[in-house]
Amino acid sequence: MSWKFSEKNEKKFQELLKRYPKKDSLALPALWMIQEQDGWICKNAMVFLAKKLDKSPMDIYSIASFYTMFHFEPIGKYHIQLCKTLSCRLRGSENIKKHIENRLGIKAGESTEDMKFTISEVECLGSCGTAPCVCINDDYIQNSTPEMLDKILDKLK
Ligand code: FES
Repeated sequence: MSWKFSEKNEKKFQELLKRYPKKDSLALPALWMIQEQDGWICKNAMVFLAKKLDKSPMDIYSIASFYTMFHFEPIGKYHIQLCKTLSCRLRGSENIKKHIENRLGIKAGESTEDMKFTISEVECLGSCGTAPCVCINDDYIQNSTPEMLDKILDKLK
């Protein structure tokens, strides 16, 4: 099965291609475009990108798999990332995790059946001063509490 960019992304890719002296450098922006298009990066998309950049699919996979922000299987519409590093642990992230898992009926690393939510545990989100920190898609919830997250999840449901 083949994969291709949407018309809009193909146009964007061609524009970006003019800006990069070496095609290789376009791998990360192109991987982002793939993920934005589908929500994750499938094997066929990596094969597609490899051809575009004159690389092997394994080269593309090596680049993509280095970064934790790329997903290789479908994830929920709302990706809840729970920091599991020290500052957040000391400030109650374990309670936050249990609360969200109970509320959504799934464990970290799983998605709800309707693919609305995915919970992941991640290393430091770079917001230790406002621990415990939770990231939902592109939004940081700082000094998070179960009550704050309940309000947010109520809105997202
Ligand atoms: S330890 Fe959680 S954001 Fe840094």
